[in-house]
Amino acid sequence: MSVTSTPPTDLLYRQDPELAEILLGEATRQSTTLQLSAAENFTSRAVLAALGSPLANKYAEGYPGARFHGGCEIVDVAERVAVRRAERLFGAEHANVQSHSGSSAVLAAYAALLRPGDTVLAMGLPFGGHLTHGSPANFSGRWFDFAGYGVEAESGLIDYDQVLALARTRRPKAIVCGSISYPRHIDYPLFRAVADEVGAYLVADAAHPMGLVAGGAAPSPVPYADVVCATTHKVLRGPRGGMILCGRDLAERIDRAVFPFTQSGAQMHTVAAKAVAFGEAATAAYQAYARQVVVNAKTLAAALAAEGLTVVTGGTDTHLLVVDPAPFGVDGRVARGRLAAAGMVLDTCALPHDDARGLRLGTAALTTQGMRETEMPRIAALLAAVLREERIMVRAREEVRELAGGFPPYPV
Ligand SMILES: Cc1ncc(COP(=O)(O)O)c(C=O)c1O
Repeated sequence: MSVTSTPPTDLLYRQDPELAEILLGEATRQSTTLQLSAAENFTSRAVLAALGSPLANKYAEGYPGARFHGGCEIVDVAERVAVRRAERLFGAEHANVQSHSGSSAVLAAYAALLRPGDTVLAMGLPFGGHLTHGSPANFSGRWFDFAGYGVEAESGLIDYDQVLALARTRRPKAIVCGSISYPRHIDYPLFRAVADEVGAYLVADAAHPMGLVAGGAAPSPVPYADVVCATTHKVLRGPRGGMILCGRDLAERIDRAVFPFTQSGAQMHTVAAKAVAFGEAATAAYQAYARQVVVNAKTLAAALAAEGLTVVTGGTDTHLLVVDPAPFGVDGRVARGRLAAAGMVLDTCALPHDDARGLRLGTAALTTQGMRETEMPRIAALLAAVLREERIMVRAREEVRELAGGFPPYPV
């Protein structure tokens, strides 16, 4: 079978062909479709090696040098390396690398800083806030009193006047800045000034831009926020997981909020894989990748606008962009379905000016595959042709397969 297979599937094939087929099927799906989701990427083989290593067998509750379990002397070193690399990469006084996910990191940040019932100001979900920013379906909305700021309907930019006005009237204990779909840089100094005026903590949920920050391609929230939460996947291209950065003053509270308050055993194979990803992110090659991610996103935004899609905020500063397919007579949900049939994988998201859903796209995975400015107009033209129903679907799928085939994520 000709697939860009990464996992050592031979052994799995002999023991469990049913699961091996599933793994190979997913590897084939990833290498023959276009991963336009702003939240996804292809990790290196080195990251996958750490994830599939015997560290997966190790129980390690606690922190290096102070574990509940025996036999932690080796994994302690792995965690110390991961922490040191994260602190150096982001210029932070303290890093906690144990959070199992971005949501767990946010939960721990709230646990460290807040009490149930406290008021928190965050981007409202209809404007691009994450579930952990006050959704009634999430612990955040259930346990805290969230006030939501939004974006201006016309420009799609954060309504900083509203942030200030809400902060003054609601007197939040914490202000959260960060979003699942905001394509522009966030004004961290301004959020810091608002937080200082009302005596609130500033929590930056930088899950999306943190990979750009690591590569010097986006401003860092670290000098401004009391606590920075992030995922280690997405643009950062590490394993699925979370991390928290903070100053020395909050280090102990953050560590205790992660363990023992919200988690017990750390996943040491993931912690080791995070260390590998941080090591990769400290290289010049990674900086070039981060810059290219942004160049590709800007090029894709301009090309989609030229094809007639409405690009929210008129473009992007980052890896992600939001478009409204309404000019093509479809909403985001219908558009996503059509594009999926053609092998173009992306997500829907909120639109600032409408109740209908838009489309969220990102360029991190494409860039990791080696695509550059030349490929972006081709992708935009294909996407528009599929939405206009100009292309027979089978033909569009073939074109996507051919394009993706030229940039295998795991070349053999
Ligand atoms: C802003 C933001 N916060 C938190 C998360 C949660 O990350 P995870 O899915 O790893 O829990 C995400 C992920 O989409 C996110 O975009």
